[in-house]
Amino acid sequence: MHTQVIQIDPDHIDLSSIRLAAQKILDGRLVAFPTETVYGLGANALNGDAVSRIFAAKGRPPSDPLIVHIYSLDQLNQVAIQIPDLAYRLAEKFWSGPLTLVLPRNESITPAVSAGLHTVAVRMPSHPVALALLRSANVPIAAPSANLFSRPSPTTAQHVLEDLKDRVDIILDGGRVDIGVESTVLDLTSDVPTILRAGGLTLEALRQVIPNCVMRNVYLGEDESAASPGMMMKHYSPRAKMLLFDGERESVLRSMVDEARRHHRAGVLVFDEDEGVFEGSGVATSRLGSESDLAQIATNLFSAMRDLDQKNVDVILVRGVKREGLGLAIWDRLVRAAEGRVISK
Ligand code: TXA
Ligand code: MG
Repeated sequence: MHTQVIQIDPDHIDLSSIRLAAQKILDGRLVAFPTETVYGLGANALNGDAVSRIFAAKGRPPSDPLIVHIYSLDQLNQVAIQIPDLAYRLAEKFWSGPLTLVLPRNESITPAVSAGLHTVAVRMPSHPVALALLRSANVPIAAPSANLFSRPSPTTAQHVLEDLKDRVDIILDGGRVDIGVESTVLDLTSDVPTILRAGGLTLEALRQVIPNCVMRNVYLGEDESAASPGMMMKHYSPRAKMLLFDGERESVLRSMVDEARRHHRAGVLVFDEDEGVFEGSGVATSRLGSESDLAQIATNLFSAMRDLDQKNVDVILVRGVKREGLGLAIWDRLVRAAEGRVISK
């Protein structure tokens, strides 16, 4: 298979390119496309063979379920059944956008999408290229993040190409994505609405509609059979070993400098405020942005990890963020990338 990369300007969408990509989807082939969170690797969610190509291309275990994307509320019935009122209230407020709802699965969705579960994860992305593709194909599109399994999620078409060259038919290049971390996954099939994955929509925003919503605060992986498959600890990992430092700024920075000295070539995911600390020390740095700007950190996070990997560092050091707003999702991705290696100071 040869991968075709097609540039698309999100502000002036060329419909002939979209139609070409939509036809690939209908032919059972794979199309990578930008969403507002990260790039997705899409296939027709009604076609089992097409969906199995996603797992093969990513090297993803079939026990890890995918998210189904739709462009209109009319499609929701095609994807899910027994849809509670709450789902419509959330959709009205947060769709299109970075919220994924877990609902009972409609049997028209091929079971492979949900790793055999009776539930299905569904969301309506807000990126104009994603919406145009969905509308043109007019089928629900299953799409995980368009990275190789356990690599950082792609926030540019270049990242997709790095991981999936000749494993995907078309990559729609709509430029750098906006949010940079994946959608928030909310389970509406449990007794209490439960966040299974922190993401682009904050807990604080969700609580305005569902004050009783809870956060499932465990890192699975140790136990793959647990309620939400695919939430294993090793995820989003750069190639180099990563260490996450937590605690008071001054002492954290001191131990990061000490740790860097112990390595041949250390890399640091650095906040603007900390750059001076590492200047002239021989470590490779990649900027996350200002510590106080969580949106900027989220946007830069995965590409900064990939950037340090390309600089061939043997360890990546990073200081934790405050765990509120988007910081919850950022912290979650950092802990996973570090495979749980949190050093508290
Ligand atoms: O922002 C996003 O959500 C991106 C873009 C492309 O939409 N997609 C994404 O997909 O992050 P993926 O496959 O990398 O993550 C999907 C996660 C699974 O790992 C799993 O944790 C959860 O969604 N999930 C999917 N179906 C589920 C289900 N039926 N029950 C519980 N969790 C589910
Ligand atoms: Mg993923």
